[in-house]
Amino acid sequence: MNSTAKAIPSPCLQAIKDLLGPQGYLESEADRAPFEVDFRGIHRGQSPLIALPQSTAEVVRLVRYCADHKIGIVPQGGNTSYCGGATPHPGNSEIVVSLRRMNRIRSVDALNDSLTADAGCVLETLQEAAAAANRLLPMSLGSEGSCTLGGIISTNAGGTAVLRYGMMRDLVLGLEVVLPDGRVLDQLRALRKDNTGYDVKQLFIGAEGTLGIVTAACIKLFPRPAGMATAMIALVSPAAALDLLAALKSGLGAAVTTFEILPRIALEFVCRHIDGTRDPFGAQFPWYVLAEISLPQADSDLAARFESVLADAIATGRAADAVTATSEAQREALWRLREAIPEAQRQEGAGLKHDISVEPQRLPQFIDEGRALLARIVPQARLVAYGHLGDGNLHFNLSPANAADHSLTAAADQARRAVHDLVAAYGGSISAEHGIGQVKVAELQRYEDPVALALMHSIKKTIDPLGIMNPGKVLEPGA
Ligand code: MLT
Ligand code: ZN
Repeated sequence: MNSTAKAIPSPCLQAIKDLLGPQGYLESEADRAPFEVDFRGIHRGQSPLIALPQSTAEVVRLVRYCADHKIGIVPQGGNTSYCGGATPHPGNSEIVVSLRRMNRIRSVDALNDSLTADAGCVLETLQEAAAAANRLLPMSLGSEGSCTLGGIISTNAGGTAVLRYGMMRDLVLGLEVVLPDGRVLDQLRALRKDNTGYDVKQLFIGAEGTLGIVTAACIKLFPRPAGMATAMIALVSPAAALDLLAALKSGLGAAVTTFEILPRIALEFVCRHIDGTRDPFGAQFPWYVLAEISLPQADSDLAARFESVLADAIATGRAADAVTATSEAQREALWRLREAIPEAQRQEGAGLKHDISVEPQRLPQFIDEGRALLARIVPQARLVAYGHLGDGNLHFNLSPANAADHSLTAAADQARRAVHDLVAAYGGSISAEHGIGQVKVAELQRYEDPVALALMHSIKKTIDPLGIMNPGKVLEPGA
């Protein structure tokens, strides 16, 4: 099965409609449109029908029918993929499946610190349910108002608290998955210890819907932070930022929750395009870090200890200046400067995104080398390297010189190849948190360890021999 597969015949569409019932699908052009394009408007496809099953049993019936008739299925959560992972191919050969009607929170267990919910629940709703039980669901990312539980599990989402709590994979306790032949993998358990053979549920986390449809999950919760402190720190270099991270870790240990870096140009973009934002410093600096520390228990000393580490960093020249939030409004204003970067960068013209990771201590050298490399290939372009420094993950993005400059688009392939070759030379990852989707299939093929790649193909063939599950995403079909 591939992107040139035939359009789904009308009798099959009718049979799918019959099995889902009148509320179970969308069919008009206008209703289908938002599901056929990714949120950035970059990837466009066609799906003759958007399936909206309302139970795992309905997903099973739908998948069985699609397997019997070799119809491609594209699972879609909140449609916030950066890699076209949830967008169908052109040609009306694939059914998009959205679980948005499966949005029931099944249980919140405050003793076990766990929450079990349908995959169609929106992350923000789950965060609120956890908070209502005086618990924290620590996954936090820009799209939390629209991304769904199934989506963030299928993409192994990262976000801005990975340093403290890990990626989505680290938060999953149990899963329920409908396999491509309609069987249900029932591992929806809240067990913290289970060493019974291979942990097969792990295969579906980060598989981007290519091995099955996640229909429900049990995830870990944590104590809600009672003590918190947030600051933006001005720095002369990424190396100085890493020194500061080391100082924070030795002074405050596991309380260090967020450590995000942004260059001057990103702050300028945000202040230029995002209403209500402003540079919190009186002078300009080349780099900034948004750092947040949090503790489960109230600690009157926390802010003082944080400030003393920052003061020491300034006194010893590791930091240039720092602004500490003294109210929730100030904290939100500092966070806005970081979270609005993707939107602000979008307004600077068609750019080029790289989502890379290398070991944190090698990032400063990587940035220097990458900058020099790109200055040769796309001299007009502006480097906007920001992101999750504490995780070694940078969005090593480029923006054109201005709206009229098309040199970046023209040289995009060459620039991407150069950055990814450099990442490979550093032993890093060409997709640290955004996944592969349809955008990086060839890149995965080129850069992944051949043994790992061969295992991935074997796993795909074993679980989805017909290749109906999110065809052409992650792996080349039939390879
Ligand atoms: C972020 O960290 O802001 C997101 O991953 C989005 C991006 O790549 O810009
Ligand atoms: Zn990111």
